[in-house]
Amino acid sequence: MSKKKNVQEMTTDEIKHEVRKAYSIVAGRGTQSSSPCCSSSTASEESSSSQSSCCDSLRNKSGEASNADCCGTSASPRAAEYAKSMGYDLSEIPNAASGSFAGCGNPVALAGLKQGEVVLDLGSGAGLDAFVAARRVGKTGRVIGVDMTPKMLASARRSAAEMGLANIEFREGDIEDVPVKDNSIDVVISNCVINLAPDKAKVFKESYRVLRPGGRLMVSDIVLNEELSEEDRNNIAKYTGCLAGAILEDKYLNYIRNAGFEKVSVVEKEGWGQAVSARIEAFKPKV
Ligand SMILES: C[S@@+](CC[C@H](N)C(=O)[O-])C[C@H]1O[C@@H](n2cnc3c(N)ncnc32)[C@H](O)[C@@H]1O
Repeated sequence: MSKKKNVQEMTTDEIKHEVRKAYSIVAGRGTQSSSPCCSSSTASEESSSSQSSCCDSLRNKSGEASNADCCGTSASPRAAEYAKSMGYDLSEIPNAASGSFAGCGNPVALAGLKQGEVVLDLGSGAGLDAFVAARRVGKTGRVIGVDMTPKMLASARRSAAEMGLANIEFREGDIEDVPVKDNSIDVVISNCVINLAPDKAKVFKESYRVLRPGGRLMVSDIVLNEELSEEDRNNIAKYTGCLAGAILEDKYLNYIRNAGFEKVSVVEKEGWGQAVSARIEAFKPKV
């Protein structure tokens, strides 16, 4: 069997290819009766190096899960149960969306969405955050989800149709080059995705570009309290599992500030150890 390349040896296209492959598997989980969000990967997934759960990155170095993380303390909690534990209201949400949930927080909960707002979800996956946002912004508002994994997009579109949502659309695209017009969005949300982007500075510049003046960014993501070992940093399974692409919190916040945002702050943090889930907010200046 050929040895997997180190992350450092891979081009950004190769990294994105691995990310897509990993999340194609997650997209299929929502349709299975048992859909572990965070248990260790199945044998077939491991053979394709697709340790595709952000939850794994919230384990501490000895492999224990933090109480506050999505892995909980039980062996294999399901994605939907994890989402509920973070305050998601899953009534009328199709199983495909809750079962393939792969977030590490609940960015919509603090986004203070209002009726009529236009929301962009970066890396919308199977659509859970986008669906919750669509309920909040109502018929006069709109939600756009962007993702680069066709199976996630197909699942999200099927669920949107099942829910009869007319104020939502899912676009195929890269969050480093967002297929959305300048100054057209009120709120950018994202859940456990930006750590997977090789060029995070670009993601924040794109978020700034699409937001209207005064618009806000509200993301949940994995950030590091301490640097990773070279070995971890180079492991593609840990990259797709939301650990190896994560960066130190200060660096993350600086990328946001350097994109032009103001009032950048960490609103909440969950977990402990090397990698934690942080909820971060920032604003595009009004003028
Ligand atoms: C950990 S999952 C999170 C999905 C969703 N936000 C949720 O909370 O369930 C990461 C998602 O981001 C998408 N993604 C990763 N990198 C991306 C990129 N550069 N551009 C667009 N989508 C990306 C993946 O396809 C996947 O659906």
